[in-house]
Amino acid sequence: MPRDDEFLYTLRNANPIETVMGSYVNLIRRGRNYVCSCPFHSEKTPSCTVFTETQSFYCFGCGAGGDVITFTMKIENLDFMEAVKLLAQRSGIEVPERNNRDSSYAKRKTRIYEMNRIAANLYYTNLFKGSDKSGLKYFADRKLTPQTIKKYGLGYAPDSWNFLTDHLKSKGYTDDEIADAWLGGQKNGRTFDMFRKRVMFPIVDMRGNIIGFGGRVLDDSKPKYLNTGATPVFDKGSNLFSMNFAKNANTKRLILCEGYMDVIAVNQAGFDNVVATLGTAITPDQARLISHYAEEVIIAYDSDGAGQKATQKAINHFADVGLQTKIIHMEGAKDPDEYIKKFGVNRFRLLLDGSDDAIDFMLDKCEDGLDLSSEMGRVELLKRTSKVLAGIESALEREVYISRTSKKCDIPVQVLKSHIDDMLKKNRYSAKKNEWRNIKANTNFVRDDVNPEAVNHRKEARAEEMIIYYLLKRPQEWEDVEKAIPPDSFVTPFHKKVYSALLDKMRDADKFTILMLNGEFTQEEMGRISGIAAKNNDLPITFEGVLDCAEVLKKSKPTPSETLSDDELMSKFRSKNKK
Ligand code: UTP
Ligand code: MN
Repeated sequence: MPRDDEFLYTLRNANPIETVMGSYVNLIRRGRNYVCSCPFHSEKTPSCTVFTETQSFYCFGCGAGGDVITFTMKIENLDFMEAVKLLAQRSGIEVPERNNRDSSYAKRKTRIYEMNRIAANLYYTNLFKGSDKSGLKYFADRKLTPQTIKKYGLGYAPDSWNFLTDHLKSKGYTDDEIADAWLGGQKNGRTFDMFRKRVMFPIVDMRGNIIGFGGRVLDDSKPKYLNTGATPVFDKGSNLFSMNFAKNANTKRLILCEGYMDVIAVNQAGFDNVVATLGTAITPDQARLISHYAEEVIIAYDSDGAGQKATQKAINHFADVGLQTKIIHMEGAKDPDEYIKKFGVNRFRLLLDGSDDAIDFMLDKCEDGLDLSSEMGRVELLKRTSKVLAGIESALEREVYISRTSKKCDIPVQVLKSHIDDMLKKNRYSAKKNEWRNIKANTNFVRDDVNPEAVNHRKEARAEEMIIYYLLKRPQEWEDVEKAIPPDSFVTPFHKKVYSALLDKMRDADKFTILMLNGEFTQEEMGRISGIAAKNNDLPITFEGVLDCAEVLKKSKPTPSETLSDDELMSKFRSKNKK
């Protein structure tokens, strides 16, 4: 085995895919394998399978698949070398020098992480030691303790155009690099500090890297918060503030606030399980991320109109990823920060425990702006309410709310129920259609990176899959299968390669295991092969069935002997003699 392969082999062995994936998603055991909700697309029912035998994963919903390295690349958004390093670190393995060459993009990212750390340290030190103490005074006024300031690494960017940039340049970072990190801006060829006269909130990712900053003014000037823009390490739509603490909070529930200060106040009050988005509405990516760590989210957005609108949107995103959602109803304060200050931690805890169900919240919202004393108002209420009721997943829960609503709107429960049932039927139909459309968009039909030809030969590709599946299931019958179906009758190159490799291994080995293919296929391909086995697992297939599949292939192409090249003829001859 070449030395690089040897290292990767050791690395994979030291990082079992089920252990690594298990630290990101909730794995459910299914025999020898595991299933989970796919971390790469939104879904409620698990369609991603982890195969322990082949050390690979495959998602039947979106077609994502691969080994532990591909998984790490995808979920952490890293390139190959970065993922290898992360896994090596995780398992205490040293990366050999010759493997340790970074791509230029990885280098660029490393430089930004370094600059961010230097900046955070400088802002932090400056908060306490700088001559301008207004930052420290600001935090004190907002009742933050020194421990909290330290925990979050809060800091102060003074009223200066070159405080940070000069420091970074003295450490060897160029103007362009500083701008790349979004720590400095450029004007007329000069670089200036982006954050000035602001208290600073470092944003830390789940691996402990500082990926960006939020900076707040001390007065009423605008913008109130300045946030790092998009950089190679910072995407505001896929990270959450304080997730680095929340992910370790030992609880199935997560509190979602609107702002930095809310999170910090709630955290200081004793809850580690609190996060906020970074100056935007919550995205499907963030909802998915939360669903990997929690089962229930409590939305604690501001009590103003904007906060309530945002709450409705968030409820929908959370429903899409199967999270239980509750809503805090705050009275007498605009946000959690103010609430805790005004009423204390204990009242806030009561608020959490007494939080409303998302459905109650949505049903309440239906009444907004309606005059319920008028017929028209009640009809409209019924329309809106029905939509919410039809969206309730659990049948039991739905019954409960239907009966409550029927009382409230004064309609016979049977009438309401059959109306909702009709809506459900329609919803299911369109959901099925959507799901189908998504699968079509994401997998084989439009583009297939592993087996590109499958798109042009769907029927044949399917027949080939069945033959491969049969062989995987009954390796002892390889001779009969090969006699009936020579590899050359395969139409799509990838399947042909798999089929030939399977026959080779089965010919050579006493006891075939799928693991034997590992050397010849990329992990993406291994994922696909495992997928073929898993996808068809419930299908009974007989040898006659295999012959039918062979017919499909025959019809698609002239008989192989007519089209064999000399090379192919030779190799056929050789493999015959080997027997
Ligand atoms: P808020 O205006 O509700 O601020 O914005 P806040 O959290 O109550 O902040 P304090 O208590 O006045 O300090 C909520 C969040 O929206 C984003 C920030 O992430 C903020 O925490 N925001 C707000 C911005 O990104 N830019 C702004 O100019 C304002
Ligand atoms: Mn606030």
